[in-house]
Amino acid sequence: MDRELAMEFARVTEAAAIAAAKWMGTGKKNEADLAATTAMRAVFDTVDIDGTVVIGEGEMDEAPMLYIGEKLGHGRTEVDVAVDPLEGTNIVAKGLWNAMAVLAVAPRGSLLHAPDMYMDKLAVGPAAKGLVDIEAPLEHNLRVVAHATGKRIEDVVACILDRPRHTEIIERIRKAGARIKLISDGDVAGALNTAFPETGVDILFGSGGAPEGVLAAAALKCMGGEFQGRLLPQNNEELERCLSMGLDDPTRVLRMDDLVRDEEAIFAATGVTDGELLKGVRFLAGDVATTHTLVMRASSGTIRFIEAKHKLQTKPNLVMI
Ligand code: FBP
Repeated sequence: MDRELAMEFARVTEAAAIAAAKWMGTGKKNEADLAATTAMRAVFDTVDIDGTVVIGEGEMDEAPMLYIGEKLGHGRTEVDVAVDPLEGTNIVAKGLWNAMAVLAVAPRGSLLHAPDMYMDKLAVGPAAKGLVDIEAPLEHNLRVVAHATGKRIEDVVACILDRPRHTEIIERIRKAGARIKLISDGDVAGALNTAFPETGVDILFGSGGAPEGVLAAAALKCMGGEFQGRLLPQNNEELERCLSMGLDDPTRVLRMDDLVRDEEAIFAATGVTDGELLKGVRFLAGDVATTHTLVMRASSGTIRFIEAKHKLQTKPNLVMI
């Protein structure tokens, strides 16, 4: 993939983030999601790719835009596209922490077509790459991360979604001596943060959406970190769904190369609300918005943060024509 595409994808997540941020704190999560999706869709169409959505807003019959199988762009570079125009719809509605507009793009056939169901997840940054194992007891993984990062176990911070289903592992993490950062939503940011020591997060545990797992895996591939997942089909219908998507053993551990098979992935995320890593969108006087974006390429390993000021009057519908 042409490296200039990285900048184009940053524009895509910037537009989605600005559109979503207009709804920040309004209590209207569906409106925020629709605004982000519409903006992301519009900007994608200006990009020189022959893209197919493999992770998106749902199946064709349930999502008007960015549905699975939808074609994006107007070029010849054949790519898989994974999007979450608004990762953390509740976060934006409530004006909380860590909502982002997110995408990952990779050569056609290289992103796992993860079904919309839960996935058990484990994510770490580069220091602990190759050392953790989702099949091992979490106490082992905490010790490994402590050793790899040169920290005492009581200084290791595990990030986990604040959900009743996690009660037992929360107790076990605390019993092992580590600390926990509970998040209300947004486990893509939780996974991403493990690769940036300045966020204070060392490891992500727990279950969340499988599509978000593929996005997190793409991000950690670019960062040299590690993501492991295991799908958690809840009923026969979900089991059938896995089989029909070509996953012969739906509950086997999915490692980096199962989730993102190519070294050419590009990941982009723009903050919608403030997070540990990215600042949220600000609307300033004079119809100006500021954005903070992370864009990375797995093949080069370059990690770029882009702070931008957008003159909104030059971008009708957030697209500069
Ligand atoms: P939405 O943006 O679709 O609201 O998802 C947010 C999220 O918190 C994800 O980050 C996470 O993977 C998933 O929801 C967790 O699902 P649940 O809320 O059912 O525990």
